[in-house]
Amino acid sequence: MSLWPGAHLPNLNGKIAIITGANSGIGFYSALELARAGATVILACRNTQKGEKAAALINEKAPDRAIFMPLDLADFAAVHEFAGNFKERYGALDLLINNAGIMAPPQRLLTAQGLELQFGVNFIGHFLLTALLLTPLLDARAPRVIQLSSVAHRRGRIDFADLQSVRAYRGWTAYAQSKLAMLVFAQELARRADAGGWGILSLAAHPGVAATELVANGPGPASAMAWLLKLASPLVRQSATAGAWPILLAATDPYAQPGAYYGPQGLFEFRGRPGIAKIEPAAFNLQTGAQLWEEAERLTGESFKPAP
Ligand SMILES: NC(=O)c1ccc[n+]([C@@H]2O[C@H](COP(=O)([O-])OP(=O)(O)OC[C@H]3O[C@@H](n4cnc5c(N)ncnc54)[C@H](OP(=O)(O)O)[C@@H]3O)[C@@H](O)[C@H]2O)c1
Repeated sequence: MSLWPGAHLPNLNGKIAIITGANSGIGFYSALELARAGATVILACRNTQKGEKAAALINEKAPDRAIFMPLDLADFAAVHEFAGNFKERYGALDLLINNAGIMAPPQRLLTAQGLELQFGVNFIGHFLLTALLLTPLLDARAPRVIQLSSVAHRRGRIDFADLQSVRAYRGWTAYAQSKLAMLVFAQELARRADAGGWGILSLAAHPGVAATELVANGPGPASAMAWLLKLASPLVRQSATAGAWPILLAATDPYAQPGAYYGPQGLFEFRGRPGIAKIEPAAFNLQTGAQLWEEAERLTGESFKPAP
């Protein structure tokens, strides 16, 4: 089933969407459905072979709608290059879906700039990307930015004394921090968009527990998490297609409110039809939002400045 029962997406002809990490998992199925609805979808992926293959698969079902453009969120230079390429080729950007992510690698890994990989890719790379795409977003009629979070954000804490997990690295702790950071980012962007009159709708989504490459690429296929999921499936897990539903609802809900968070409505928000999801109060903390934003600006050397 490609959409949830009773759902249909509006006509998205003429809309331009960017989805990071769209070569697999929920990013791929989100791209496929948005392309089917008529949007031009840029698949922003780090691996050329995988990105081109995904674009070809989507174009078989929605001809000429998917375009691969290289993007490695673990390297600021690559993020700048992607944003430059996009601005050269396109004008307005209607929809930015910050989906790419990695989960709980057993060892502490680093980005090209020396940030802890999950903080660096899941949050900081997307912060930089969004800042660099601010002008194309402002040029769209009703732009939306969607940050990918997770039920894991509930266990997260933004550790300002050790954001890069230098003192102690625990894969799951760093993952939960990065996913809470995405929700804090969504709320702070909503406040700044409102204060600046930017007209950008800042939203967030999570897929519940979806069968994707996330575990294989993170803790690994032999990890306890991989075994647990194998045993518990399909009781707790849903397909990657269903995992994309909250993103698709966030992208198209005509009643979406600034800062809204979408996720599955079943038990523990693990699976089911999409709707409004629960946000930990920590994500709304004004001081945390301002401090994390400042830190992201310092680390990336970029701020959200609309072009004069
Ligand atoms: N699946 C779940 O149950 C679940 C639950 C909660 C939240 N999420 C979130 O959902 C999002 C999508 O994950 P998924 O489950 O669909 O997993 P996935 O199949 O592993 O997809 C992750 C995507 O991110 C890409 N990526 C990783 N590092 C990147 C980088 N440095 N630059 C650019 N792209 C990069 C991957 O590229 P490669 O193919 O090249 O590795 C892949 O395309 C993530 O943000 C994840 O945290 C998933």
